[in-house]
Amino acid sequence: MDTFAIPRSVEWRETHITILNQQKLPLATEYIDLHTLEDVYDAIASLKVRGAPAIGITAAYGLALAASHYKAETVHEFHSRLKQDRDYLASARPTAVNLVWALDRLTAAAKDAASVNEAKTALIHEAIRIQIEDEDVCRRIGEHALSLFRPGDRVMTICNAGSIATARYGTALAPFYLAKEKGIELSVYALETRPVLQGARLTAWELMQAGVDVTLITDNMAAQTIKAKGIRAIIVGADRIAQNGDTANKIGTFGLALLAKSFGIPFYVAAPLSTIDLATKTGADIPIEERHPDEVTHLAGVRVAPEGVNVYNPAFDVTPNELITAIITEKGIVRGSYSAALPALFAKEEQHETI
Ligand code: MRU
Repeated sequence: MDTFAIPRSVEWRETHITILNQQKLPLATEYIDLHTLEDVYDAIASLKVRGAPAIGITAAYGLALAASHYKAETVHEFHSRLKQDRDYLASARPTAVNLVWALDRLTAAAKDAASVNEAKTALIHEAIRIQIEDEDVCRRIGEHALSLFRPGDRVMTICNAGSIATARYGTALAPFYLAKEKGIELSVYALETRPVLQGARLTAWELMQAGVDVTLITDNMAAQTIKAKGIRAIIVGADRIAQNGDTANKIGTFGLALLAKSFGIPFYVAAPLSTIDLATKTGADIPIEERHPDEVTHLAGVRVAPEGVNVYNPAFDVTPNELITAIITEKGIVRGSYSAALPALFAKEEQHETI
């Protein structure tokens, strides 16, 4: 079977963008077409497309698509319109840095264009490049991550850092797909991930599609499962990694890292360089998105809490660097002193590019 018969989350169609509506999974595999900047903003804000790299790819295509319709007469006019639209899309969700990373990469790609048409083409090419690169990056993350596991390992994860959260393969889920390709047996224990159930709806669905052994648990079963099932490691994705290694990821990640420490098992973060934000020095500087109370008071549209109850609904938490055993990137596995090691990854990249 083709391990990657998993649908792509985002497709560029020149006149529009087609996305897999992740809100509807696993009950329906529905695709929706995005035609305007407002469609793209709404798809990101309402989690129809979610996961840091997939958000970045969608936003990049969204900006390129919007710009393709500009009636600007001068390059200057074009850039001021582009800046407005860039800022609008950047405000769709605050935590995943891949959103602004992708938008800024696009803006930079069009910066030196000699004409409006050249700028429009540059934006489209750059957005396509971001998606193509992300697939390769995720595969390389998967190869590095797989080197940390032994056949038969049971590994825990939270949220969905899988194929549909990226261009393909995912970050935290990539090693399981590669293991499957190579005939290595690994088992995944997926937390359901309240409030919006990315683990139950998306991770369980995509791993099952690929024939990866996956067991679903609710979030409050993590400690008991680590003990009873002999979980060997925890691996998660990331929405933003500060220069010192502090990592924002789906709410519940921090608790898992504390459990990993308590049980003496490794806690791994798998993420591309596009998720590392050297401008953010520590986790204290990462904005944490708070979402609508309905996500907590309702389950699948049905109210499960009293009307008027106070609700706190942070979508992410920050795991302090000292709880992270290693950060797995496309450039390799980083351990220990993240403040020095993470910037060095970018320095290596520049050297590599200029050789
Ligand atoms: O709110 P979401 O579903 O966008 O949150 C996603 C996560 O927290 C993922 O773990 C993270 O973006 C990594 S996706 C490769």
